[in-house]
Amino acid sequence: MSSFLESPKFPVDIVNQAAEKEKKGGGRPEHWEMVFWWTRKPLASARAVLAAAALPPDIDVHTFVTQVLKAKVNLKGKVENVPHRENPSPPPEWRERFAKMKVLDPFAGFGSIPLEAMRLGFGEVVAVELLPTAYIFLKAVLEYPKWAAERGLGEQLVRDFEKWGKWVTEQLASDPDIKELYDPDVAVYIGTWEIKCPHCGKYTPLIGNWWLARVSKGSSEEAEEEEEGTKKKIFSRLAWMDWENGTIKIVDLNKELKRSQIEAKLNSKQGYVEVNGTKRTVRKPNIDARRETATCLHCGNQIRYISLKTGKHSIEKPKGEETEWYVKHALKQWNQLLEEYLNGKIDLEKLLQNPARPTLLAKVKVRKGDLEFEPATNQDTEKLWKALEKLKGKLSDPDIPSEPIPSYESRSIWILAYGFDKWFKLFNPRQLLTLVKLVKLVREAGKKIEEEKLKEGWSNDDAYEYAEMIVSYLAISLIKQADYNSVVLAWNPATGYGSALALLHAGHTLSFRGIAMTWNFVDYNFTFERVGYTKFVSLVCEGLSHITPLTASSNISTKLIVILDDALVLSSLRDEKYDLIITDPPYRDDVPYTELSDFYYVWLKRALSDVSDKKLVARFLSEAFFKPVGATYREVRTQWEELAPREVGLNVGRVKYFKGKEATEDEARGYFINLLSRSFLSMRRALKDDGILVTYYAHTDPEAWEELISAGWRAGFRVSAAFPVSTESVQRVTARGKAALDTSIVVVWRPGVKGEALWDEVYRDALVAAEERALELLRAGRAGVDLFVGTLAATLSAVTSREKIVGVDDVGRFVRERAYPAAARGLARAVSRFVGGGEAGEEVRDAGALFYMLAKVLLPWSSRARGRVMDRSTVHIIGFGTGLDDKELTGMKIVEKVGSEFRLLEPRGEERSELVELLRARELDSSRPVLRSAVDALHLLEYYAATLDVKGFREQYEKLRSVNAVLVDEALRLARVFSGRLVPSVDPERRLCERVLSYVSGAGTLEGWLGGA
Ligand SMILES: C[S@@+](CC[C@H](N)C(=O)[O-])C[C@H]1O[C@@H](n2cnc3c(N)ncnc32)[C@H](O)[C@@H]1O
Repeated sequence: MSSFLESPKFPVDIVNQAAEKEKKGGGRPEHWEMVFWWTRKPLASARAVLAAAALPPDIDVHTFVTQVLKAKVNLKGKVENVPHRENPSPPPEWRERFAKMKVLDPFAGFGSIPLEAMRLGFGEVVAVELLPTAYIFLKAVLEYPKWAAERGLGEQLVRDFEKWGKWVTEQLASDPDIKELYDPDVAVYIGTWEIKCPHCGKYTPLIGNWWLARVSKGSSEEAEEEEEGTKKKIFSRLAWMDWENGTIKIVDLNKELKRSQIEAKLNSKQGYVEVNGTKRTVRKPNIDARRETATCLHCGNQIRYISLKTGKHSIEKPKGEETEWYVKHALKQWNQLLEEYLNGKIDLEKLLQNPARPTLLAKVKVRKGDLEFEPATNQDTEKLWKALEKLKGKLSDPDIPSEPIPSYESRSIWILAYGFDKWFKLFNPRQLLTLVKLVKLVREAGKKIEEEKLKEGWSNDDAYEYAEMIVSYLAISLIKQADYNSVVLAWNPATGYGSALALLHAGHTLSFRGIAMTWNFVDYNFTFERVGYTKFVSLVCEGLSHITPLTASSNISTKLIVILDDALVLSSLRDEKYDLIITDPPYRDDVPYTELSDFYYVWLKRALSDVSDKKLVARFLSEAFFKPVGATYREVRTQWEELAPREVGLNVGRVKYFKGKEATEDEARGYFINLLSRSFLSMRRALKDDGILVTYYAHTDPEAWEELISAGWRAGFRVSAAFPVSTESVQRVTARGKAALDTSIVVVWRPGVKGEALWDEVYRDALVAAEERALELLRAGRAGVDLFVGTLAATLSAVTSREKIVGVDDVGRFVRERAYPAAARGLARAVSRFVGGGEAGEEVRDAGALFYMLAKVLLPWSSRARGRVMDRSTVHIIGFGTGLDDKELTGMKIVEKVGSEFRLLEPRGEERSELVELLRARELDSSRPVLRSAVDALHLLEYYAATLDVKGFREQYEKLRSVNAVLVDEALRLARVFSGRLVPSVDPERRLCERVLSYVSGAGTLEGWLGGA
């Protein structure tokens, strides 16, 4: 039995467009705003994959697109709506089919897959997560809304949560301690760290960004571009800080020029703004952590190294002496002394004498729909110390999150280097005090809610459960607030939304795959409506109002189960078998979920537990925070201490820490492969023999693919289809040093491998399968990377269908060295057959030429770039097959790196100048050619054809053949493919190739050549 998901008719392009719609501006699912989780999958693709896996291959595609996916496709084939906004309405016989099936997602995360499974009306939907944080989110977005909706309490749940959110906010605002801490009209304070200058002895603020507002009228993309260089555009808000007479001064250009719109030339890197020919400078940061230097704003001296032996500062690194950057050293000391102070061991004076301490720079008010900036005063900063006074000796208060941040995770939690080694240190004293107060209020609300419901006559169980739900939402609002309010969240002055108010929520602490040190941090007023607790309650409330009808609507019959369990064992499923396992395991070394989400865990645990005897004790969701030990319970301090070794991920630090030795990278990889294999084995046990497993995998590294394929295969699965789907918008998230992973590859697996074969037999089968599948896909209109991955799936299917491949110990290596090249060659052959040029593609053997050919055929011509551009993941995916990586391809001058993208080095026009430019970029000398690949030969032939007459061309052609006839012949094979219908007519290389072929034939025309060939 095959499924629609395995059929070439599955509308990948429409599904991808639908998923893309979710990434843009207002397209995101509303309930995602409740709280951030990494790598969430678009609902559209989750829905399409689930439904297609459950349906037979011959269904009507139109019904699938319009009634299941709910996509509105125009005559040009473009999706016009945001499909996830609508509930699916499949025909009754499809619905019946879904209702009979059981679905499991063992790596459920934030629950996109289970949510869509519920919306489709699958009989049973099981969501499993390892981490308590994600488990609570799954309950909040799936289980609670469904519980309430089923009892007709959906709206009441929203209203009650709103009511209790208001109650907590009011209590907080009327707390005299809190009142003292914030000026009621200040929305945000912008703070930083100040350092005692080792030269002049004064405290100098360290300012990472002098800008306060740089709000342009255009889109946010434009605003980003502006970072690169000078841009002239209209700004609705321009303001920055300056330094005068030892204090901060505010420059507000809108006020100064009395204009709401300012046309300005601005270069944020070089630090200037030019309006009507007048240039104003904006200071550059006086801190550069990468170079380990800072400059004192008072005396202008550089702050560099402190000797760990003598404590003396020096600008040059003293030879033979152990040193540290002064700033880092001072901050570490602050963090250490802060702990001593909270332990009651030192007094405030001693703490404040430390050479590093937090300070405030500016305050931001909201007036008439706009932001107003003022310098912060000493009285403002003193409020931080007031908060400190209230925290003195309070470290024993169980509501202060003093749990450790794992020292081994410095790979992504970069602040560890500055001594932020416990979670409470990520908040300034005022933030910390307010969060602790909030925890206590949320706890109190839980008691009141339960009492209220009991008074109303609810049963004990229902009253308790209801209180658990509302407290969970209150706790989620709290962690959302913490995410938006920490000393490691920077004030972001740039946005392109046109309104300065957007700056109030321009970023959050966990938006990257790590936590970085920041110099201009935000300190929001928790009681200010727009940015305070009430704001986060309303965001969670909006998400809840959106999700409740989705989880209920027509699918009340779905049995939903959310489980806290380990995908490696799935012990709580016992012997249950599922029809479909659709899942999205972590992508290798992408996100350290356990360690990063402890940021949430430490607060959730407090808000959802009780305190007794100065200790946290179980109250709600105790399974998330406590472990049974005999007849009692033990508090789970952190997720990382309890669960990190079980998170399916490649993490050298983790392995070193838990193995208690100097583990190598290879050992860490081995450990990861073992985890991945075990999870496949447990999924195999949970899947029916005729069931389907679907995995999303988004890593661009070929090794990651080898690992995935061999883990699946060893567990007894064979690949039956694969295609790329567009996934979460992560370009910005991954901007810090990682490849863009906005495409996941969906692999469809079937249980059942049998027989054995010799490796060369498998290779031959794989090649034939690739060619046949590619031809089938080409005929079905598939193009692009989609075509390549579909072809690759056929080779992987041939490889994984045997239980044993004789002569192969390392399947990963076999995949790398045989399966990828088989896919590339099979595709090349199919392309030649499809184009009608005989078996030419079969002979393109040169790796560079193969890459070039695949890129030309698979990628669209961009008229904006006048050529083909690709992101890193596309280069990798095509590179899989040719055995070349982006570095080798760049070295061979086949691609060129432009910013974060790669450009294929190909003719951009037919004119001489364009070809001269191409040869220059490719470092080819037309008079003394040296051929590195057939692509060189092709481009030289194109140049000769564009600049010489037939006679001259033929002379050069013979000369080139005398250099390397094999590569020249290969170039002609490429020319035949490029002059065919797979290359669009706008591509100038198509006509250049036609000319080359006609000149080579000597007949001067293409027809002549074809006739003579
Ligand atoms: C890529 S995310 C899933 C995202 C999810 N599909 C969504 O749309 O939100 C992978 C998830 O696997 C979880 N995970 C990692 N190791 C696990 C294990 N051993 N058992 C269960 N879940 C695990 C992580 O906590 C993470 O939430």
